[in-house]
This record gives sequence, structure tokens and C-alpha cells, in this order.
Amino acid sequence: MTGSIEVELQNVSKFYGEDKVVDEVSFHVNQGEIFVLIGPSGCGKTTTLKMINQIVPHTSGRILVRGKDVTELDTVELRRSIGYVIQYIGLLPHLTIQDNIAFVLQLKKCPKKMQRERAMELIETVGLPVSYLDRYPRELSGGQQQRVGVARALAADPEILLMDEPFGAVDPVTREQLQNELLRLQETIQKTIVFVTHDIQEAFKMGNRIGIMRGGKLVTIGTAMDIVKERDEFIRSFIGQGAVFSALDTIPVTQALLRDLPVVKKGALVDPADSSFKGWEYAFVLDDNGQSLGYVSLAGMEGPAKIDPEKVQPLPSPSLPGDSLKKALEEMLWGNRGWLPVVSGEGAFLGIVSFQSCASLLAR
Ligand SMILES: Nc1ncnc2c1ncn2[C@@H]1O[C@H](COP(=O)(O)OP(=O)(O)OP(=O)(O)O)[C@@H](O)[C@H]1O
Ligand SMILES: [Mg+2]
Repeated sequence: MTGSIEVELQNVSKFYGEDKVVDEVSFHVNQGEIFVLIGPSGCGKTTTLKMINQIVPHTSGRILVRGKDVTELDTVELRRSIGYVIQYIGLLPHLTIQDNIAFVLQLKKCPKKMQRERAMELIETVGLPVSYLDRYPRELSGGQQQRVGVARALAADPEILLMDEPFGAVDPVTREQLQNELLRLQETIQKTIVFVTHDIQEAFKMGNRIGIMRGGKLVTIGTAMDIVKERDEFIRSFIGQGAVFSALDTIPVTQALLRDLPVVKKGALVDPADSSFKGWEYAFVLDDNGQSLGYVSLAGMEGPAKIDPEKVQPLPSPSLPGDSLKKALEEMLWGNRGWLPVVSGEGAFLGIVSFQSCASLLAR
């Protein structure tokens, strides 16, 4: 995340006649961030999204896209420069999948050959066979159509994507698959995404930050952890019980990582009086490449000595930095142990997580 603000709403309201359907909403979205808007049906999510690309003009307040006031930009240009996945997919039924995907490119009068190439590239990106390009939307399943909706939004390679319940119309298994695919894709494309959902699990999973709406107002903004700690009654009842456990799914183990550990180099002289061992019964033994060889008890060591390789106990199977806290806690419970090592994909020892470090993270 580079931190530059790509989208900003300042006290934005929308009236339909006397009805204030969006009420003084303010938030910003950073480059590369997924910002989730969530709330009950009719609370103003879609309207908020549509004001960003000015499909719906706002009544008051300011909307900035890449620092520019949207009312000063050419609306046609603005719309085409922002990818939009609309609620209920909205593929055009009389157009082939290729023409659906390349719709914006066609509007931009890109050469036919380029449209074809881009459509071929994108259909693979979203995990569908190229042969589907010549089909019509009715010849695809719901999940496949949702993928095409994402491909269409990506066609003009926009920096900003607005996604309105993009995975709303599919079964839970397909939905999870689509979510994972988007998260994986996002690692490389790093788009700035405003993502609307009414599913709190999806919000926790997809959002770097989440904004909860109610009756046109944005009532809170925060990370999954911030949200589960909210005391507000509406928010508590909206996210429901067990929310802490879904939030655990979204927190990487690295957040509860203990890095300041007693470590000793293989073959080195170890002094149990060394201050870094204070309060620890064990020390971790590393080789010259920073890979862990195991751990060793410090108990019974009288004075400086070399570690006896025979006494080094192997580590339990490790967590990876990308694993969730939930997964790590499950492993601890199943393995009947209070801690797990965390090891990088290259095998470097990063530290450990423990029940205690998880608990203090949650209590913080
Ligand atoms: N063109 C319109 N004219 C009048 N009222 C409208 C119009 N469009 C939306 N509304 C009203 O604005 C409110 C917010 O609608 P919006 O579509 O933004 O809700 P939403 O949060 O996206 O709901 P859902 O989860 O059902 O998609 C609703 O009460 C809706 O009836
Ligand atoms: Mg909506």
C-alpha cells in the first residue's frame, strides 16, 4: 500500500426529493486498499458507490478521485476510468462474453484486435477458458457470470474498482472461491477497491478497512478487529455473535508474533546468565542461514556451555506468516501445545505465536 488517497468523500449527502438516502458520509480509500461498505438493505451502499463514478450525482459535499473534484471532471471519462462491477452482475444478454468484457474498450474505440487480445487475457485471469468468449451470458453459470463481471470491470485496467456485491448471487462455496481468487489477484494488481456487501464474513475477509452504514449514515470505520470490539448496540447486533471468531480468520499470525526470543547459534557458546534468556526456559537454535534447528532447554545449565546437539528438540510443524490466527489457534488446540513456530516460505525462523500472545492481541 503506497498510502496515497485515491478516493475521498467529504460530508457527502444524497437527497431524493425530501428523502436523505445518504447522510453526510465521509471516508477515504488508499491506493491498493480494499475498503468495504456494509449495512442492511436500503442503507445507501449502492447509492454511495454510484456517486463515486457519478452515475448518481451527489446533492452536497465533495467527492475527490485522485485528488480531483469529480464535478470538475468529464463524467464520461470518469466512468470509463473506474471499473464497476454492478449488483446482480448485469451482463448484457445480447452480447457475447467477449463483447461484454470489451464493452468499455469498444466505447473507447480500441481496435478490434486489441479488444480480442485483452478479452482473452482477462478471461484467463478470472479463471475461465478462452472458448467461453464466444458464448452468451445465459450459457454460463452464475459463478462464471460473476467472473465475467470482474473481467469486464478490469478491461480498461482502471486504478479504481467499484464492486457492488460482486459475489452476491452464488452459492457459499463458489463465493469463497471467487473471494480467494480476487484476493490473490489483488496481490498483483493492487487496485484501489470499494467493495459493497451485506455479508459480515465477506467484509472481514475482503476488507483492509470496513465502513458500516445505517440509514444513510456511516456509523463506524475500522479494521475487522476494531469492528468486533465496538460496543455500539446496532453494530454488535449487526455483526452478530461469533464475530470475533470470523475476525480471527482475517488476522495474520504475524500480528501476534513474538520476535524477541532467546536464540542461540548452532555450536556457539551459550551463557544461561545472558539477559536475553531471562524469563525463558527454552532457547531456539538457529543455523547460519537463520533456519531453526529446534529448541533446547536452558534448565540445569550451570554456566556457559556449548549446546549438545543431542538435546535439541525438533520444532512442531510451523505456521506460515500468511496463515490466520484462527488456523494457528486450531493447530495449537489440535497439537495440544501452547505455542507454534512461525517460519517464512523460505524456511527462515521468524518467531513464535502463543496462546498468550494471541490473547493479549485480542485484549489490546
Ligand atoms: N432513483 C431513486 N429514487 C428514489 N429513491 C431511491 C432511488 N434509488 C435508491 N433510492 C432509495 O435510496 C435508499 C438507498 O438505496 P441503495 O440502493 O443505495 O441501498 P443499498 O444499501 O444498496 O441496498 P441493498 O443492500 O438492498 O442493495 C433506498 O431507500 C432506496 O429506496
Ligand atoms: Mg445495493
